Amino acid sequence: MQRYKTVIDSETVFTELMVPSYANFGDKVHGGVILSIMDKVAYATAVKHCEGYVVTVGVDGVEFHEPVEIGNLLTLKSRVNYVGKTSMIIGIRAESTDIKTGKITHTNTAYFTMTMKPSESPTEVPGLILRNEEDIRRFAEGKYMKQLGSEKRKMLKGSMEDKSQEELRQMIAGERMQLG
Ligand SMILES: CC(C)(COP(=O)(O)OP(=O)(O)OC[C@H]1O[C@@H](n2cnc3c(N)ncnc32)[C@H](O)[C@@H]1OP(=O)(O)O)[C@@H](O)C(=O)NCCC(=O)NCCS
Repeated sequence: MQRYKTVIDSETVFTELMVPSYANFGDKVHGGVILSIMDKVAYATAVKHCEGYVVTVGVDGVEFHEPVEIGNLLTLKSRVNYVGKTSMIIGIRAESTDIKTGKITHTNTAYFTMTMKPSESPTEVPGLILRNEEDIRRFAEGKYMKQLGSEKRKMLKGSMEDKSQEELRQMIAGERMQLG
């Protein structure tokens, strides 16, 4: 029997203090640290939805709008936007809170595609119950994102392999490179 769950069932909010060991050479939080926390939160959200083990298959639309300051609280809000057969697109919004002033800044956005391991049973993730206009919009965006992603992967795979060295050289002529 096909199972369905709501977005709220797996919605996740996670806050972490940005400690000095997270700093890059500019004394801001290293982007890789933020991505690592996002991956864990995406994992937790996906696991709550499908109740099985998952792996990260892709990350889209990662944006660093503003740097994150050391000493701030970073809060990640994460939800399932779209589900396919075995995959789930998890949308994450990161906000940085200045502890002294209380000012909240939207710093990051990302979409993680998490897929159930092939050995998992049942073999399909639960469907998603869409309760409002936002749920419907995000689901439609997720469907479009999945289509675009698979078209992009197909395009990149085939398109350059068929080209001759001459065609490749013509394509990159005028770019900021030198043939050594
Ligand atoms: C996840 C994995 C099993 C998928 O294998 P696969 O042969 O591509 O399987 P499929 O083609 O059946 O794809 C499975 C699902 O993932 C989606 N998917 C596959 N590659 C993807 C990609 N690069 N980006 C986004 N989604 C992808 C497919 O659309 C499909 O979704 P659906 O079932 O909802 O329709 C395999 O890619 C894998 O093991 N990857 C390594 C994952 C990993 O180790 N992650 C890092 C640490 S967690």
